[in-house]
Amino acid sequence: TIETPTVLRRLLPVDLLERTGRPFDPPAGLRRRRGAGAVQPLTLTNGASAWLVTGLDEARTVLSDERFSSDRVRHPDVAGTTPPRRVDSRTDGMFVFMDPPEHTRLRRLLTGQFTVRRMRLLESHIREVAVRHVEAMRAAGTEADLVPAYALPLPSLVICELLGVDYADRARFQEHTAVALSSNTPERERARAAGELYAFIQGLVTAKRAAPADDILSGLVHEADPPLTDVQLTDMALLLLAAGHETTANMLGLGTFALLENPDQLAALRADPALLDGAIDELLRYLSIIQVGVIRVATEDVALGGVEVAAGSTVIVAQPEVNRDPRHWDEPDRLDVLRPRSFHLAFGHGVHQCLGQQLARIELRIGLGELLARLPNLRLAVPAEQVPLRNEMLIFGVHSLPVTWA
Ligand code: HEM
Repeated sequence: TIETPTVLRRLLPVDLLERTGRPFDPPAGLRRRRGAGAVQPLTLTNGASAWLVTGLDEARTVLSDERFSSDRVRHPDVAGTTPPRRVDSRTDGMFVFMDPPEHTRLRRLLTGQFTVRRMRLLESHIREVAVRHVEAMRAAGTEADLVPAYALPLPSLVICELLGVDYADRARFQEHTAVALSSNTPERERARAAGELYAFIQGLVTAKRAAPADDILSGLVHEADPPLTDVQLTDMALLLLAAGHETTANMLGLGTFALLENPDQLAALRADPALLDGAIDELLRYLSIIQVGVIRVATEDVALGGVEVAAGSTVIVAQPEVNRDPRHWDEPDRLDVLRPRSFHLAFGHGVHQCLGQQLARIELRIGLGELLARLPNLRLAVPAEQVPLRNEMLIFGVHSLPVTWA
């Protein structure tokens, strides 16, 4: 399922993903469609028709109305995004691609593992990892690429904690993950790394069966009744990895870039660190890094935003536009860390709303907080136009972010 986004990416007109102007503005294809309705017809590159949802209320309906399905097995034609691997979802664990009631059971088993005690432990671990990495950057000089030095390792090590990956195996795990989820590597190499990762996680499941430890994966292995199969457990672990790694990493990298490019906002935040929680929500809204990755299929004819969405249609939520809906925000194209907190869709909505959002918020609060506090002179080391953007990816961000703090 890690490959699924690649399939979807090829089906989308490229101007829906590529940012040609300011890096923080929505892609040109989305901006061009502004004013053309909250639900717009979209032709995919294979000629198939779909709907693009750009309005906040309409997107909220799509994500909370059970007539819109996430099930890629019952509806295999969802923009051609069928997971290429197994097809018998009843035994799978990729619950992000399921509807209730199958989705409900697996999601509950996982949320049951995110206990208050575990979250507290994770929080102190996240702070330790963040401090260690910033201090390593400082010890090594006055310049670094923030992506490999900080933005990638932080969420990766958090997932190691969730899954209970041994310290000795972490470097190998991180390397497989980086290659499998990166766009910089050729597809064949990426597929091989994804295979290694799958085998690694299978091995982890077997190890937790034999010797449980105090981690979420062990909890899932030993507490589910009826028990989960090895395939379900491996899938659920991979889902955590795929959903929690790149997202948080790109929010850290792109979020830092956006703050550095908006010095007045950065100054406000530095002057009053109590603004950080609100600033993170504003960055989530403003950056909307999941560009067009939230997709459903209509199971019945549905009237939506003035159009008739026919049963069987693919519906694509355009997060960058939805989160700048002028009916909901004043000056939506402006980053404003003082903006009152408001509902946005960066974590989705409805039964599939991000299961890791509490954890993601902690990672971002500590990650950005320690970075800014420990590097008071942080700035870009290259002109902003030279920062390579993840233009071709469903999850937007930066490939690298050269910074200096001299
Ligand atoms: C689902 C965004 C971090 C785990 C989602 C969805 C969105 C999202 C939009 C909904 C997908 C849909 O409706 O089809 C984000 C963003 C993050 C982030 C922007 C970081 C800033 C995390 C983290 C974890 C995580 C850290 C776990 C460690 C999940 C899981 C789901 C999910 C398991 C599937 C939930 C379900 O299907 O019930 N995320 N996420 N996410 N996320 Fe996150």
